[in-house]
Amino acid sequence: MEIIAIHGSPRGSRSRTRKLVQWVLEGAAREGADTNLLDLADMKITACSACDSCSLTGECIHNDDFSMVFEQMCNAEGIVLGSPVYVDHVTGQMKVFIDRLADAIHYQVCSGKYGCSVSTTAISGGDVVVSYLNHLINYLGGYSVGGLSAALGDDQASIMKLEPEARSLGKRLVDAIQIKEFFPDQEEIIAENREYFARIVEENRSWRPLEYETWVDRGWIQ
Ligand SMILES: Cc1cc2nc3c(=O)[nH]c(=O)nc-3n(C[C@H](O)[C@H](O)[C@H](O)COP(=O)(O)O)c2cc1C
Repeated sequence: MEIIAIHGSPRGSRSRTRKLVQWVLEGAAREGADTNLLDLADMKITACSACDSCSLTGECIHNDDFSMVFEQMCNAEGIVLGSPVYVDHVTGQMKVFIDRLADAIHYQVCSGKYGCSVSTTAISGGDVVVSYLNHLINYLGGYSVGGLSAALGDDQASIMKLEPEARSLGKRLVDAIQIKEFFPDQEEIIAENREYFARIVEENRSWRPLEYETWVDRGWIQ
């Protein structure tokens, strides 16, 4: 079982969010998962230029590290997302990455996958970020098993108390993948999204026939 983490703090090994992400992965690895942590700040990912190329061809015009992260995301069964709060939201690194996922959202590439999200903040906004990242997992078609956020002030060591909770989130993720847990509330939202995105897949049918056929085979287009 592959689980990847996509992490958006630019602070490298000093990052408190990265520590949380690492503990989630360690909790998952203990249950037998193969894990990999990707730091968006180490990558060159260009902001979406809204050229529509992805929709028209399935290919992005930007030749950068996004495709490597995306490929790992598609191959994984579990996805951990982590970002600190920057001015009440995710970091710029994370948002640039997310905007590049617009086509992946339309085509529901994380259907059947599971994820979870973590965030740290000084004072506020952690719950908003976790809820946004978990919404992204649903938006991509996957289920979220939960999240963890912590308001830590400016004490760099205060993160340490969250280790047990972060490790159990990793275990929770593996458990959900193993039993193919069903989340009825999230499925309702995902099904509504799919109904909307089916129109886009139908519109793109003539130039993206394989993806169209996949949607028909899955019963997402009648
Ligand atoms: C540019 C910037 C913006 C921030 N914005 C907020 C904010 O809006 N609210 C808040 O409580 N903390 C804010 N913080 C503090 C960080 O969220 C907090 O220190 C976090 O734990 C950093 O995570 P990291 O160690 O993973 O990089 C901000 C920090 C930076 C550098």
